[in-house]
Amino acid sequence: MKLNHAASMPALQASDDDATSQSSSSPSESSSHSMSRNHTSMDLTEIDGASTTTVPPHVDYKKVLVTGGAGFIGSHVAEYLLARGDDVVIIDEMNDYYDIRIKQANLELLRQAYTDEKRLKIYHGDICDEALMEQIFQDERPQWVCHMAARAGVRPSIQDPYVYIHSNIKGTTHLMELSAKFNVKNFVFASSSSVYGGSKSTFFSEEEVVDNPVSPYAASKKACELLAYTYHHLYQLNISALRFFTVYGPRGRPDMAPFKFIDRVSRGVEIQQFGDGSSSRDYTYISDIVDGVVRAIDRPHKYEVFNLGKGSGTSLKEFIDLVQKHTDRKAVIRVMPDQPGDVPYTCADVSKADRLLGYKSKISFEEGIRRTAHWYQKAYATRELEVCPELQANGMGRAPSMVELKQF
Ligand SMILES: NC(=O)c1ccc[n+]([C@@H]2O[C@H](COP(=O)([O-])OP(=O)(O)OC[C@H]3O[C@@H](n4cnc5c(N)ncnc54)[C@H](O)[C@@H]3O)[C@@H](O)[C@H]2O)c1
Repeated sequence: MKLNHAASMPALQASDDDATSQSSSSPSESSSHSMSRNHTSMDLTEIDGASTTTVPPHVDYKKVLVTGGAGFIGSHVAEYLLARGDDVVIIDEMNDYYDIRIKQANLELLRQAYTDEKRLKIYHGDICDEALMEQIFQDERPQWVCHMAARAGVRPSIQDPYVYIHSNIKGTTHLMELSAKFNVKNFVFASSSSVYGGSKSTFFSEEEVVDNPVSPYAASKKACELLAYTYHHLYQLNISALRFFTVYGPRGRPDMAPFKFIDRVSRGVEIQQFGDGSSSRDYTYISDIVDGVVRAIDRPHKYEVFNLGKGSGTSLKEFIDLVQKHTDRKAVIRVMPDQPGDVPYTCADVSKADRLLGYKSKISFEEGIRRTAHWYQKAYATRELEVCPELQANGMGRAPSMVELKQF
């Protein structure tokens, strides 16, 4: 299926759920109220000052290199780009941070929908493999890079910091080096809300100084943001860093709370509630993140950092109540003391993304949990999914790594 370029108003395919919500949108719906495709491409318009600079969207065809395209967010972005008519080149090392069958299934879904290698090309390898990556840039000549590959997870990074330095810092540097060399038009990469980890505030803005990361993972993302500025400065590479706030949804990562809670409550396995349940976090549904990522790809800002979140928090208690409602099961809850250092409320200030990208989250937390629980039930009923979250990265701590550290 080929859709018109939606000028970055993406949403998940209807097959993800049976949503009837007003807040849902599909690529075809979105194209109707979006800017129509035209032939302006790299004609950038600057209004005064960095934070008020707007860039008109590039709406022509693109070939996009999506790193980490077998993963949760990367595979959704690839799916959207392909559906609107762009060609996609994926590189993923398929590491076993969580069950590799989930990543294989993500790729299979894309392969089945796009059998033509001109539309979708998949490479299996490490982004730090210099020869392989140089060859990919030579052969494919992508002019747009969406860099989602990384080692994710805060706690596992404390146990095994070296793979985070390898994949996140070395890998990102290597990609920016190649992107500068091959004149990439826009380089968009995944940073993380974890960079705010040492912050005392609860409403996180990009203007905040985040020089005190509290985990190797957060430090690796902050390091990428710093290096990104350097590559912009030295080579005028257009770069946007996107700080995602806990992303969830169909095909979501099994080491993260939304998946774990839905899975455990569905199976009648105990969940832990820290504190009285009043602490609150900003959770972002996958179609909103895809929308933000594609908006950033389409707008080659010179150098910007953007928060991408829902922009409002959900309390742990409300979270658990919604999971019970949409799994139709009663949760077995073990109340634990507050974790030291936990802040009561965290939320993304998304006004900059709104102003410069036109980003607005659309999916309420309840609707997102409803869709995710629905997907989970279908995936389990058809045995598409056989993961055991207790055995995934955050459940047992360290996941074994197949990255060859000696290369570093
Ligand atoms: N999911 C979230 O809530 C969240 C929040 C903040 C930031 N992020 C960031 O968003 C990006 C995507 O996250 P995700 O949730 O989809 O994670 P994911 O683990 O599902 O996807 C990452 C993919 O990158 C691949 N990868 C890792 N290192 C690689 C390497 N050296 N070479 C090639 N491939 C490699 C992995 O195999 C995996 O398929 C990551 O950069 C992550 O740090 C995610």
